[in-house]
Amino acid sequence: MTEDIKLDMGAIEAVMQLPPAPVMLLAVGEKEQNVTTIGMFNVFSVDPTIVGIGIRSSRYSYKLLEETDDFSLNVPGKDILDHVVRCGHHSGSRLNKFSEIGLTPEPGKRIRSPSIAECPLNIEVKKLEQIDRGDWDHIWYMGKVVHTDVAKNYDRSNVLLYWDGEFRTPGPVLKKL
Ligand SMILES: Cc1cc2nc3c(=O)[nH]c(=O)nc-3n(C[C@H](O)[C@H](O)[C@H](O)COP(=O)(O)O)c2cc1C
Repeated sequence: MTEDIKLDMGAIEAVMQLPPAPVMLLAVGEKEQNVTTIGMFNVFSVDPTIVGIGIRSSRYSYKLLEETDDFSLNVPGKDILDHVVRCGHHSGSRLNKFSEIGLTPEPGKRIRSPSIAECPLNIEVKKLEQIDRGDWDHIWYMGKVVHTDVAKNYDRSNVLLYWDGEFRTPGPVLKKL
């Protein structure tokens, strides 16, 4: 039993050393709308394009995800790092994060949830399925990408990565294939 726990802790520590994932702003909801910072993100299929996010069931965003058929994932640049931090520290159950933190909801093109005007890459997703593996209450919502908007001035080197408590931007390109 003790051996199992040690092995589990080793796995968690090792996983935390994996290279970082992109930071996203999740926007969800139709009449009630909310925006939240997300680090648990993955691409599950390229064609068809299926992405997923992990959300704890204690989040206000979880309630809205349960009520809504879709959501948007919005890639912030480093210019709105403060907004990203605040969206990850306040709950929409107590505060309208769009107006109080200063982000602009834009109508989705193919979904009912909004996207975020300040983000240079917007990904509209229609929910397909959800998976609960019992991980600290995280539920994975997987969905099909139905529309994307990429700003002309989108600069990959300005996107945010989150790694074990630290926000970063990607480092320099070392080699091109
Ligand atoms: C960098 C960062 C990444 C985060 N990633 C997630 C995540 O993937 N899933 C999650 O449930 N919460 C995540 N959080 C925490 C939520 O953003 C935070 O609890 C937020 O206040 C929830 O807001 P809500 O209640 O309006 O949904 C993250 C926070 C930060 C700062």
